[in-house]
Amino acid sequence: DAPARESQRSLLEVMKTAMNFYRRELKTSPRAIGYLKKRGLSGEIAARFGIGYAPDGWQALQAVFPKYDEPALAEAGMVISNEAGRRYDRFRDRIMFPILDGKGNVIAFGGRILDAGEPKYLNSPETPLFEKGRELYGLPQARVAIRETGTVIVVEGYMDVVALAQFGVGNAVATLGTATTPTHVQKLLRQADHLVFCFDGDKAGRKAARRALEASLPQLADDKLVSFLFLPEEHDPDSFVRANGAQAFQDAAKNATPLGRFLLDTLAEDCDLATAEGRAKMVFVAKEMIPKISAPVLRLQLIRELAFAAQLSPEEVTSALGLAQAERS
Ligand code: UTP
Ligand code: MN
Ligand code: MN
Ligand code: MN
Ligand code: MN
Repeated sequence: DAPARESQRSLLEVMKTAMNFYRRELKTSPRAIGYLKKRGLSGEIAARFGIGYAPDGWQALQAVFPKYDEPALAEAGMVISNEAGRRYDRFRDRIMFPILDGKGNVIAFGGRILDAGEPKYLNSPETPLFEKGRELYGLPQARVAIRETGTVIVVEGYMDVVALAQFGVGNAVATLGTATTPTHVQKLLRQADHLVFCFDGDKAGRKAARRALEASLPQLADDKLVSFLFLPEEHDPDSFVRANGAQAFQDAAKNATPLGRFLLDTLAEDCDLATAEGRAKMVFVAKEMIPKISAPVLRLQLIRELAFAAQLSPEEVTSALGLAQAERS
């Protein structure tokens, strides 16, 4: 309806004005420029991603919003009120990463602290513009490279996307500090035939991969390929590409573990396949996963492999999973 559209427009206006302000502030902050240089980012790549700097002040946004009290600033998540009703900027003394929607509108920000401190990244809250489980950082910038390669790489962090782009790997996007959702996967598989998840090599990254696996199952199709690139423990995509170069990253992405393999490895993980109990447990755990696979032929393939590992027939596994047998003509 018209009033809602109108208020949506004023929120978008707030975000755009804020981004332009942060970009100007970056140009006059040697400390922020120094930080980006230290992270190895060129001015060109910073401009491409609209990276800026939120200065250190409680109401720095007043410089561009003379009506600092207007509700749109709070609704857009840029201004917070304390208990006494006093308003202040959410983002202070942070490197600012604008998050864009598909049309290139700024809908949220991620802000990184320059030194050590908590939280390392502060993100916009959910607002009428920003629903976290749907959006992906870097998608508008990656669109051409995704189309050209038929592949999209999903990473965890802002810096991963930006660093990969600087090294010529332009087809990376990031989930926004949340788990990968089926909506993310659906959105990406509409644009690419191959989806490569590449999370950090640490424990959190491996856990993120498990969540991405589960989010992918109901979105799979037999003409799509979802795979998982596991980095060495000490690396994330940013540090990996800086240490080893773009070619090494591309080679690793090409050799990423297909979802089917990862799924079977995950199922076998805590099961002693030398025992009947271990093999039974594997099929029991599979019941939570295999029926969710929306690619019918891949599902048959995995049932076959699972049956082999469980020392059962595919028919026995099918019925143990609670699935109906394929109809015979
Ligand atoms: P990481 O801790 O791996 O950050 O979190 P990073 O991207 O490697 O950061 P750098 O290299 O130290 O700058 C991955 C992502 O998780 C979200 C952010 O989106 C971040 O990019 N995150 C992380 C938060 O939202 N808040 C945090 O405090 C930390
Ligand atoms: Mn994630
Ligand atoms: Mn991490
Ligand atoms: Mn990381
Ligand atoms: Mn990092």
